[in-house]
Amino acid sequence: MIHARITGTGSYLPGSPISNDALIAAHGLDSSDDWIVERTGIKARHFAGPGVAASDLAYEAGRQALAAAGRAPNDIDLVIVATSTPDYVFPSTAALLQAKLGIKSGGAAFDVQAVCSGFMYALTIAEKFILSGSHKCALVVGAEVFSRILDWKDRGTCVLFGDGAGAVVLEASAEPGILASSLHADGSYNSILSVPGQVSGGQAIGDPFVRMDGQAVFKFAVKVLAEVASEVVAAAGLTPADIDWLVPHQANIRIIQSTARKFGLPMEKCILTVHDHGNTSAASIPLAFDHGVRSGRIKCGDVVLFEGVGGGFTWGATLLKY
Ligand code: ACO
Repeated sequence: MIHARITGTGSYLPGSPISNDALIAAHGLDSSDDWIVERTGIKARHFAGPGVAASDLAYEAGRQALAAAGRAPNDIDLVIVATSTPDYVFPSTAALLQAKLGIKSGGAAFDVQAVCSGFMYALTIAEKFILSGSHKCALVVGAEVFSRILDWKDRGTCVLFGDGAGAVVLEASAEPGILASSLHADGSYNSILSVPGQVSGGQAIGDPFVRMDGQAVFKFAVKVLAEVASEVVAAAGLTPADIDWLVPHQANIRIIQSTARKFGLPMEKCILTVHDHGNTSAASIPLAFDHGVRSGRIKCGDVVLFEGVGGGFTWGATLLKY
């Protein structure tokens, strides 16, 4: 039987950490370190410099993941990049990444847009390709430069996000890897988190910045994350007690605490990066996973639960044996 297994991880954060105080000073925000830490857990984030695009961050994370998996660029027959901040309208960031990594295998490359759930969507798509037998070795990346779509006058959103990338190599394997996955969406919630603009006639039409109803997002996220986590654990025939590590989307420490509590998981089993990275949208789960692996906490054979929720609204979870 074919399984899909993660064989390498990588991540990248651009530049130096920017503290809450530095961000507040740079943009003249009516806010405070205390407010941001208390409501979100965020203490710092990274921003890409001018001219640095999502594919540049994806390249650094992808390069590390290939090295960790012991794979050469031409072993990769599928590249999927989850991003809501692509380099261009087209070509896809995945195609640009394929070129930057020197992948000439002729395999497929495409982007997935499911905002903060993007990596969950991309990973599950890659899993289906591998289980179908059509592809053998995928590079799955979450990469974002959310700093480009933040309104620095909106203190309710601009303090929450950061830039970064995370990547995994997902391969066909005789050993179990991904045990269960589930994806969901409910487009009727599209207005509570959106960037309601577009490029048309040579200019940005509408509003090109992140807009959010924070309290509505909070309530929705807590509800669906607990549900989808239970769903994949049950589908794999396991219980929450079998989980070694929860790697949640790093939006807000209070959302993470609330979903962990609902699911009966102690916080010691959560990989947390939100304090140092902020919310890096589609990059946050693979970034946190790579940090967990490289810090030696997540070990080979551990049972790991990924879960994410984002604009759309979209949400999903994956349970895997690392
Ligand atoms: N600094 C100081 N005050 C602020 C700030 C800030 N950065 N931002 C908002 N406020 C003010 C508001 O203006 C409001 O002031 P008012 O009472 O005078 O009107 C007050 O704080 C309370 O605002 P609320 O929006 O009610 O604050 P809340 O406690 O809900 O916290 C937050 C806001 C942190 C956004 C919270 O709603 C939240 O965490 N929501 C989840 C959203 C999230 O994490 N989104 C990330 C993207 S979505 C995703 O990844 C799934």
